[in-house]
Amino acid sequence: MSSKRLEGKVAIVTGAARGIGRATAVAFAREGAAVVGIDIAGPVSKTLEVVPATVEELDETGRLVVAAGGKWNSRRLDQRDMGALRQAAAWTAETFGKIDILFANAGIQAFKPLLDMEDADWHDQIEVNLNGTCNAIRAVAPYLVKNGGGRIIITSSTQGQHGTKYGAAYSASKWGLIGLMKSAALELGQYGITVNAVIPGLIDTPLTRHRRRYAQAIDDLNNDEPLDKLEAAAKQKLAAKSPLGLPWLPPESIAPAVVFLASDDAYLVSGAAYDVTGGDSANNMA
Ligand SMILES: NC(=O)c1ccc[n+]([C@@H]2O[C@H](COP(=O)([O-])OP(=O)(O)OC[C@H]3O[C@@H](n4cnc5c(N)ncnc54)[C@H](O)[C@@H]3O)[C@@H](O)[C@H]2O)c1
Repeated sequence: MSSKRLEGKVAIVTGAARGIGRATAVAFAREGAAVVGIDIAGPVSKTLEVVPATVEELDETGRLVVAAGGKWNSRRLDQRDMGALRQAAAWTAETFGKIDILFANAGIQAFKPLLDMEDADWHDQIEVNLNGTCNAIRAVAPYLVKNGGGRIIITSSTQGQHGTKYGAAYSASKWGLIGLMKSAALELGQYGITVNAVIPGLIDTPLTRHRRRYAQAIDDLNNDEPLDKLEAAAKQKLAAKSPLGLPWLPPESIAPAVVFLASDDAYLVSGAAYDVTGGDSANNMA
């Protein structure tokens, strides 16, 4: 008998081109799963300072998944597009015979004071993070029902557990995801489907490594110091706040929690949020 925890499973991972999505796709493959990676692999919103992911990055995830022993395929789409997600889910079920796992992880982040917001500063994060994640669940869940059960894991955030200065849209989207996760757990349990959220702390991905994110971290949004000085100040402040002394956690540190939630071992875990924050959870209320 194989000791791999996801042997024979078919998983869809959104936001697979890089960061937490890539690390988890590779970890899924290491545990024996076939992975379909979904990503927009291009610009998402004009409100973002984050460098967009690329097709090459999505392909690189594929190479890493195959090197880890997994089957791989990818679909390039925007998760705001429900039709495209439904097509990707149907294609996955047809090609691999079923779907067992959805890791609905794709997301974006930007910072803007409420008083300065234009419509896109609010709408784009709600559309991508909250509506897009629900789209992924609505597109894939019917196949999990057909499968006689399955696993849904979504990516929320510590910012879905407290307020975020200059990050109202992101925080609201990530709090909303907790409500979505718990509601989905209540509805889908009868079909043998568990639904949980992973709560990453601050992770070392392109999402967090840019000027405006550093400036928000030191509570000086319009800081115009040279980037290396600003980064060093943010690093010091973040590390000081972290019980384990880490400014940013590696994305690979999140994947084991998602693998557990996707595995048979987690068959009685549902409606829960699972923190991997380097100790930052100790600063949160929830
Ligand atoms: N990095 C952190 O500190 C951190 C902390 C907590 C939660 N998160 C969450 O983790 C998830 C992954 O973030 P990451 O840090 O790996 O960032 P990342 O930017 O490295 O990866 C996010 C991926 O999602 C994709 N994506 C974005 N919008 C999309 C859309 N509309 N349709 C399809 N794909 C889309 C991007 O192209 C990118 O490849 C996000 O939901 C993020 O909010 C990140």
